[in-house]
Amino acid sequence: MYKLSPSLLSCDFTRLGEEIKILEQNNVPYAHIDVMDGIFVPNISIGIPVVECLRKITDIVLDTHLMIDRPERYIKQFAAAGSDIINFHVEATERSSEIIDEIHSLGKLAGITIKPKTSPEVILPYLDKVDLVLVMSVEPGFGGQGLIPETLDNVRRLADIKKKNGYKFELEIDGGVKLDNLEEVKQAGAEVIVAGSAVFKGDTAANIKAFQSMLR
Ligand code: DX5
Ligand code: ZN
Repeated sequence: MYKLSPSLLSCDFTRLGEEIKILEQNNVPYAHIDVMDGIFVPNISIGIPVVECLRKITDIVLDTHLMIDRPERYIKQFAAAGSDIINFHVEATERSSEIIDEIHSLGKLAGITIKPKTSPEVILPYLDKVDLVLVMSVEPGFGGQGLIPETLDNVRRLADIKKKNGYKFELEIDGGVKLDNLEEVKQAGAEVIVAGSAVFKGDTAANIKAFQSMLR
């Protein structure tokens, strides 16, 4: 029932293809791709051409996390590039409902994302139609930060709302997840676990196996 979604932001980009193969060989279901625009977040990372290249070499589910202002401008391009899941930030747009519909019309899965200080109440109107809810457990923009403990309340609240209403979305957590807080993250109700530095620093395959042994 748990899924690992390693964040490629922390991988060695000179070996991106090899890292993806390691995920595949270890039956990792998702690969998390962090897209930053230097406006919505104070950093710039990777984008459409990298998604296109990855799509050519892998069938792994590309879990795309758009940290960009007005994501409605780029949904079509990411869908065409091969993203399977398109997560956008509710704080970045006034068109959440239309974006979800557009993602679905392009045959992709739609995820809505909240920053640590955004109340889960803000996304209540969309919960019956999204495929995924992404709860940020660090301020978006950089890998390798520490998990903000209060964000687990957002995970708990959304897990509770999901259960009470019978919603189908997967609940994903992103930021600062390590082996030593994974149990707490699971207890809070997270189902899809993003981990960047904890997967790609050191021996990727060994790190994945360690996560998987705790995600049964
Ligand atoms: C932060 C990104 C995260 C981050 C996760 O803006 O959305 O996906 O790279 O990396 P770690 O697991 O190192 O916090
Ligand atoms: Zn992310």
